[in-house]
Amino acid sequence: MQERVIVGIDVGTTKVCVLVGELDRDGKLNIVGVGTCPSQGLRRGVVVNIEETVTSIGAALDRAERLSGKKIVSACVGIAGSHISSENSKGFVAISPNHRDIVQNDISRAMEVAQAIALPANREVIHAIPRGYVVDGQEGIKNPIGMSGFRFEVEAHIITGSVSSVHNLIKCVNKANVEIEDLVVEPLASGEAVLEDGETDLGVALVDIGGGTTDVAVFVDGAIWYTTVLPIGGNLITSDIAIGLRLPVGVAEELKITYGHCDPSTIDDDDMIDLSQFMPDCDDLVPRKLLAEIIQARVEELFTMVHEEIRKSGYDGLLPAGVVVTGGTAELPGILEQAGLILDLPARIGSPLGLHGLADSISRPAYATAVGLLLWGLSHPSFLTEEEAYEEESMTSSLVTKMGRWLRAFIP
Ligand SMILES: Nc1ncnc2c1ncn2[C@@H]1O[C@H](COP(=O)(O)OP(=O)(O)OP(=O)(O)O)[C@@H](O)[C@H]1O
Ligand SMILES: [Mg+2]
Repeated sequence: MQERVIVGIDVGTTKVCVLVGELDRDGKLNIVGVGTCPSQGLRRGVVVNIEETVTSIGAALDRAERLSGKKIVSACVGIAGSHISSENSKGFVAISPNHRDIVQNDISRAMEVAQAIALPANREVIHAIPRGYVVDGQEGIKNPIGMSGFRFEVEAHIITGSVSSVHNLIKCVNKANVEIEDLVVEPLASGEAVLEDGETDLGVALVDIGGGTTDVAVFVDGAIWYTTVLPIGGNLITSDIAIGLRLPVGVAEELKITYGHCDPSTIDDDDMIDLSQFMPDCDDLVPRKLLAEIIQARVEELFTMVHEEIRKSGYDGLLPAGVVVTGGTAELPGILEQAGLILDLPARIGSPLGLHGLADSISRPAYATAVGLLLWGLSHPSFLTEEEAYEEESMTSSLVTKMGRWLRAFIP
């Protein structure tokens, strides 16, 4: 059997990250190429300048190609932005009395019905994911094929986005000479990389705090239940610091990354930061406590907004596996305590782990989406032939099985 190459491209607000993974004969996913480049041309997860975005994607692709020695022609690509929204929908069909047994075609018909939601002309469906099936009133069925029944129902999670935002991103990736195998909303990709089966079964919230967006996804009964993207992220913390301390944005960013903390009560009053290390001609001192106060205010606001989304999902107080925080901003010291306090949930940091090859630099929260796109590419059937999917199933590494199972569980 041939080695399979999978590529993921995360076009983030602060960085573009291209990962090249190779599934070897033993089913181990090796990272053979990593290309990152600071991104330009996006605001809050959405393309606002085509030329700049294409240049950033091109630079990241170039690095990943040089490192891996492979020409990248197609990839799984992440999409974010506050235009993303989701709803749950049901699709009923009658099973033909000729066969009575449920076949793949019944699932496809039911999914079509579930997807027939009223959509304004400027929105389109990005994902339609079956969450589970009901056969003659029997709920909670994960694989209905071969079952007998009269009435068949699918419960589906439908994620939609703005047509123009989706098409601008597609245009940018195509202009960088890459074909899109699958467009994946970022919280789903991040979830693939950092959530465990047990967590999605119990009920868990995933919060990916990037530079320009905060993605929220709620998983229950092993499947996605609620997805949304908030137009706030770590860049706002940086601009608060820049405004509050009257510093250039670049210095504010360095200050945040080197000395930032979310809990001022843990910091001594006389803990001072010497600004000359960032600006040689400045000898000002900044109290580290003040820096933490600025950060805390914004982080508190951010988790309050996340809490509101969890409430909207209907699962506030009903997520025993708690919250998993990922994305670059998850690296801020003290963020878990803030998350736990405001959301009133157990919290942990989600890092993509268990990777092989060039894994060191990407086993961090900021790479959750990019890693998740690779795992999505491996486990998602949309561009696997049935035969390939079968082979995949029999050879895939324990890592991929573990991470992809909660989605794959719905691929009969
Ligand atoms: N060590 C750190 N401490 C605090 N913040 C950090 C740290 N490292 C990165 N960040 C912040 O994380 C953010 C970038 O995160 P990430 O790389 O996940 O974003 P992105 O994917 O490019 O953007 P988005 O997902 O919003 O489109 C920036 O705001 C950056 O300042
Ligand atoms: Mg991101």
